[in-house]
Amino acid sequence: MTSGAVPSGAVPSGAVAARAPAKINVHLAVGPLRPDGFHELRTVFLAVSLYDTVTAAPGEGLSLAVAGEGTGAATGGAVVPADSRNLVWQAAELLARHAGVRADAALAVTKAIPAAAGLAGGSADAAAALVALDVLWGTRASRSDLSGLAAQLGSDVPFSLLGGIALGTGRGEQLSPVLARTPWHWVLGIAGEGLSTPTVYAELDRLRAAGRVPDGTGLAPAEPVIAALRSGSPAALAAGLSNDLQAPALALRPALRRALSAASDAGAAAVLVSGSGPTVAALAVDEAHAVRLTATLAGAGVFRTVRAVSGPVPGARLLG
Ligand code: C5P
Repeated sequence: MTSGAVPSGAVPSGAVAARAPAKINVHLAVGPLRPDGFHELRTVFLAVSLYDTVTAAPGEGLSLAVAGEGTGAATGGAVVPADSRNLVWQAAELLARHAGVRADAALAVTKAIPAAAGLAGGSADAAAALVALDVLWGTRASRSDLSGLAAQLGSDVPFSLLGGIALGTGRGEQLSPVLARTPWHWVLGIAGEGLSTPTVYAELDRLRAAGRVPDGTGLAPAEPVIAALRSGSPAALAAGLSNDLQAPALALRPALRRALSAASDAGAAAVLVSGSGPTVAALAVDEAHAVRLTATLAGAGVFRTVRAVSGPVPGARLLG
């Protein structure tokens, strides 16, 4: 290869790039705490069109660079580590061990999905890394092998790999795809500071122990929201949205109430906290409505970032 500047956004020669989407949980029923420290879930994931990209280039040992959303100082303190604490690094070590190859790669993550936002950004990065490294190293892992590795990395990583719409059970890693083709339009309102997922689950346990929210035995069924997704009716989906982590996220971050109200007042068909928060997901009735909602919410002064997205979109895929 001749030397010279690599055009911005291009994948360097010999490198492999993959991207993976953010997710919204349109149904998130959380059961009691299990002995293994996780909660039994019944959730419906929807992959949406906000993507992180992971590039894997030949290297000696592992190196990692992170850039983009949530990696600068001006993002309210959300820090994406560029070392072995990053799920991308762990994904590389896990795949190398699984395939019996050396973990040699120069990895670069470009984030568009905010960190610690309830959008599975870290899981998307791990899923994209598995897909990119599988090709870079020629490990030829099957999708089911990759899914097994993904589940070891985190509860949401198998869904980041699969994408689309899926019912998640167990701790969220056991997936059944849901076929529903209607595109759904959302506006994501991202507030200043991230929330830690374990902290939000622990707050739910505390609220339950204090009798302030239902105890989580008897998980709410997912069928109504799945039927709503299949119906294509925004009113039906609006009526079916639910998230057991919303109450603890609000308890930890009271300002979120104002953010939810701002999205309601702006005319969203429905609003809910995405996953463990603090992202607010506002449902639009169609694309034009999403554009109007985005403009209104961007001017509301409550959110650091406002993004119009749609889904379902595919899970982690190679680029180029
Ligand atoms: O699986 P993951 O590493 O993403 O989970 C992070 C943390 O979130 C867990 O350590 C646990 O505290 C909490 N969690 C949970 N129940 C789940 C998923 C996550 O309690 N089903």
